[in-house]
Amino acid sequence: MLILGIETSCDDTAAALLEIKGGRFLVRKNLVAAQAQLHKKYGGVVPEVAARAHLETIIPVIKKIIPSFPRRGKGVVLDAIAVTAGPGLITSLLIGVETAKALSFAWNVPLIKVNHIEGHIYSVLIPSPPGGEGRGNIYFPAIALVVSGGHTELILIKNHGQYKLLGRTRDDAAGECFDKAGKMLGLPYPGGPEISKRAAKGNPLAFNLPRPMLAEPGFEFSFSGLKNAIRLLIEELENKKMLPRGRPRRPRGPLYLDNRVQGVSPPQKAGSKQQLIDDLCASIEHAIVDVLAQKSLSAVAKYKPKTFILAGGVAANNKLRQTLSDALPKSTRFLLPENQYCMDNAVMIAVAGYFQAKRKKFIKYDKLKAKADWELV
Ligand code: KG4
Ligand code: ZN
Repeated sequence: MLILGIETSCDDTAAALLEIKGGRFLVRKNLVAAQAQLHKKYGGVVPEVAARAHLETIIPVIKKIIPSFPRRGKGVVLDAIAVTAGPGLITSLLIGVETAKALSFAWNVPLIKVNHIEGHIYSVLIPSPPGGEGRGNIYFPAIALVVSGGHTELILIKNHGQYKLLGRTRDDAAGECFDKAGKMLGLPYPGGPEISKRAAKGNPLAFNLPRPMLAEPGFEFSFSGLKNAIRLLIEELENKKMLPRGRPRRPRGPLYLDNRVQGVSPPQKAGSKQQLIDDLCASIEHAIVDVLAQKSLSAVAKYKPKTFILAGGVAANNKLRQTLSDALPKSTRFLLPENQYCMDNAVMIAVAGYFQAKRKKFIKYDKLKAKADWELV
């Protein structure tokens, strides 16, 4: 079986060709045209810029994956097209969805709509290196923590396609918190990988930041209070002349006064400003990872899943991977994607599409609509 995956929910134009042989996945082709360079100067994704770039790139990317008309002569024999239909930026989603619909019509190939979050969940099954060994099966029940620039969700999975939402963020996503903190610190976009790189050289206990929602029962998250605490901390350091002024530092969004910085303890060694920024990065990473890991572990203690899945862009964070790997019970299988598949890609969409194809969940091209707020559960 051969599936073409298409993903354009945010700022990456991605297409992939996945072969499934005896239940094993083989990544035949995988292309991601990333737009990060385009959005860098704005410090975040600009929807219209993203949509234009998708529009220009989508056909060249698909042509590289499938150079000739499928189902003819020696061309690729395609069994399905799986496309991300939501959630995401509507202007971005539309490009992938409308392209997939046109191809399904023109090539007479069945179409599958995939939820982006479900795609991230299935990214843990992508073999590494492409075409190599699988990463193991998902045993049910499973719990997934999906953390990215747009999502922070804990999901209970009873079986393929059976999801129950345990909790999500009430405001900002964890990746968004990383990115906005990076912007406040004047680091290049996206902030997540940059903070994580600098955190490795810093002291995670240098600054005491809040751990929002940890004291509350349940599995909901909130990161906007932490973001504001970070802003207040940076302002305080600037006032004390420990950091130079002038970096863009005030993100838009509500100010949560009940989540102020809990007190600044000066960094352990009175080092350079660079060291101070490394310490700040380490403390920010520590706070975010603490919240994500502790909520996940209480969900694991309550539901005793056979598998724990960590997925989404923030799953590339080494500290989060390590913290969970150290703390999860040995009886719980820990599945996480290879680094390149943490970020948005079309292989994960094709894998999720395969499990839908097994359940015959196809959709006619004239029925499919992109949905910006499509909830998995
Ligand atoms: O899944 P993804 O590519 O796109 C969304 O669906 O949002 O995730 C991108 C997010 C960004 O917020 C980025 O800063 C974050 O993942 N990210 C990281 C790391 N690598 C990427 N956050 C923390 N540590 C990292 N190493
Ligand atoms: Zn994503």
